[in-house]
Amino acid sequence: MPAGTEVVLTEVGPRDGLQNEPGVVATADKVTLVRRLAAAGLREIEATSFVSPKWIPALADADDVARALPRVPGVRYGALVPNLAGWERFRAAGLDVAAVFVSASETHNRRNVNCSVAESLERFRPVLDAAREAGVRTRAYVSTACGCPYEGGVAEGAVARLAGALVALGVDEISLGDTIGVGYPAQVRALVEAVAGEVPLSGIALHLHDTYGRALANVQAGFDAGIRRFDASLGGLGGCPYAPGASGNVATEDVVDLFERAGVATGVDLDALVDVSAWLEREVLHRRLPGRVLRARLGERERAAAARTTT
Ligand code: HMG
Ligand code: MG
Repeated sequence: MPAGTEVVLTEVGPRDGLQNEPGVVATADKVTLVRRLAAAGLREIEATSFVSPKWIPALADADDVARALPRVPGVRYGALVPNLAGWERFRAAGLDVAAVFVSASETHNRRNVNCSVAESLERFRPVLDAAREAGVRTRAYVSTACGCPYEGGVAEGAVARLAGALVALGVDEISLGDTIGVGYPAQVRALVEAVAGEVPLSGIALHLHDTYGRALANVQAGFDAGIRRFDASLGGLGGCPYAPGASGNVATEDVVDLFERAGVATGVDLDALVDVSAWLEREVLHRRLPGRVLRARLGERERAAAARTTT
């Protein structure tokens, strides 16, 4: 990887991760999580989701979380916005990046948001108009970009056309979602090439789940294809409740480690991020998170502590 380059990471753990948690995470812990992620150097943080609380009960406190977030210079907070009702909540909370989301496959879209892909685009139109008028940055997820849990394969051309339609509606950034983590490097390269025909490379992010353990290889493939924006989730937390079998996102620690070792700047302090994940798993979730670099670093810390007590 060429040294001297930088990448922008969007931390999606507080949204993509916590939307999937079976237990209740206290509002104060969610706010602490976002605050600590910003302190670790993350500059784009998807903090919560203004979807229906009936559909995603785990984030029913989105309004309270968003209002309690401390403003940090240089840090942008994002949230999912499925429709105009979500946009009103987003505006009242005063966040920075409104993220709409639609699937490249009809069945997942219907299961996820209860309407067709065409209806989703119509729902977004007034949201994106309002965002433009308010000077709010927008991103659009194209989910199931590497495969659908209900329909199987998804054609790259279909993803590219949908991305093009979203850009025509005024979206600033497209995030290509491998929702169920089935993509592989050659597919990611072909996908990026297809979408780059519709959207400038600088406006494309990759959002890669890790079900098959290929997410980090897919990050590298995306980077090699010219992508410089990646979504990731601390400790590898995450999933979509309406995509059965999907596991978490690529772990932020793994992405930071991959890039920093190649001389590509992420702006993130890996030790501070490991501290955040360690706090989250021990004090809040009470289970181990899967991220490989997280596990390796915590193992090193434990061995070092044990060595100190025996000498
Ligand atoms: P619906 O039931 O078809 O909507 O849901 P509706 O308009 O008929 O409204 C039903 C009720 O919800 C009404 O309340 C509305 O007021 C209320 P009631 O009259 O029954 O009391 N409502 C809302 N309340 C609060 N905020 C709102 C809102 N909208 C309606 N914004 C809807 C349609 C889109 C709302 C629903 O399907 C929904 O919320 N779905 C969200 C599903 C979701 O969040 N999935 C996970 C996120 S996507 C993901 O994880 C993938 C991603 O990570 C990328 C990737 O990995 O590929 C982004
Ligand atoms: Mg996701």
